[in-house]
Amino acid sequence: MSLQQTNFAHFLADDQLNKAQIEALIALAIDIKQQPKKYNQALAGKSVAMIFEKPSLRTHVSFDMGIAKLGGHALYLGQQNGKLGERERVSDYAKNLSCYADAIVARVFENQSIEGLAQHASVPVINALCDLYHPCQALADFITLTENFSDLSTVKLAYVGDGNNVSNSLMLMAATLGVDFTLVCPSGFGPSEAMLSKTEQLASNSGAVFTFTTDIDAIGQQDAIYTDTWISMGDENAKDKATILANFAPFQVNHQLMETTGASVVMHCQPAHLEEEISTALFDDEQLSVVFQQAENRMWGQAAVLVSLLAD
Ligand code: NVA
Repeated sequence: MSLQQTNFAHFLADDQLNKAQIEALIALAIDIKQQPKKYNQALAGKSVAMIFEKPSLRTHVSFDMGIAKLGGHALYLGQQNGKLGERERVSDYAKNLSCYADAIVARVFENQSIEGLAQHASVPVINALCDLYHPCQALADFITLTENFSDLSTVKLAYVGDGNNVSNSLMLMAATLGVDFTLVCPSGFGPSEAMLSKTEQLASNSGAVFTFTTDIDAIGQQDAIYTDTWISMGDENAKDKATILANFAPFQVNHQLMETTGASVVMHCQPAHLEEEISTALFDDEQLSVVFQQAENRMWGQAAVLVSLLAD
């Protein structure tokens, strides 16, 4: 494994990495997972500041425990300092943290906070979810697909549900890696034009087939189906739940959809809203559901990112 292949300054958005860099991260993550002892001093003496503007279970715990497994130290910063940019400027937050930390992990409401941190920090910044992207999740998901299918390049992946940070990251990473990707969202709930055109450009470079449809019956044959909550963190008050439930009901991922598409794997980033975007029976189906493998791979994927950014 050559760390040169994963040579990047920050981990902010999926389209900022090329295919070789993502493939190197997947390979490194699987190596750390298989041989954790080899890396148990990789972050010795290094400290990581973790800013969370939003709630978190998997991201918080997988970063904290993953950093400990690499011999480093993680500091959790919750909302005691308020929303980024309110008590002090994002630029000052970044410059202050850079005095102490070797890297900054941040979960923020607005992508521009992540961009501001990266612009002004003198240490690497990792996006732990914002309104536009969730790259740590997408990395874990492609590690999981690599483990479940013998050849990632032949996998057909579909995302069914709300066009959000998770679907943006997945479609950008799929297009970069050359993985065929079908995005199925109810009309009016798809991604932005900018996100669609970035994905189409990446897919045309890699040769991947990217399809966007609002017709669930047009989903076609798939190997894996992915879904996420219909209302994301921060959107709870902006969206009318009754309207969402009515619009999204035909888009529930359940055993019937798995049968129609022929998919053998179902994925979810969690937290799941059972009986909304996914049926409880499918979420709990140990033959089809890889949701806890995805959750575990969050830790190994992030470890690969941290080792690439910080290891001497
Ligand atoms: N789209 C969800 C992902 C949670 C991990 C959200 O932003 O709330």
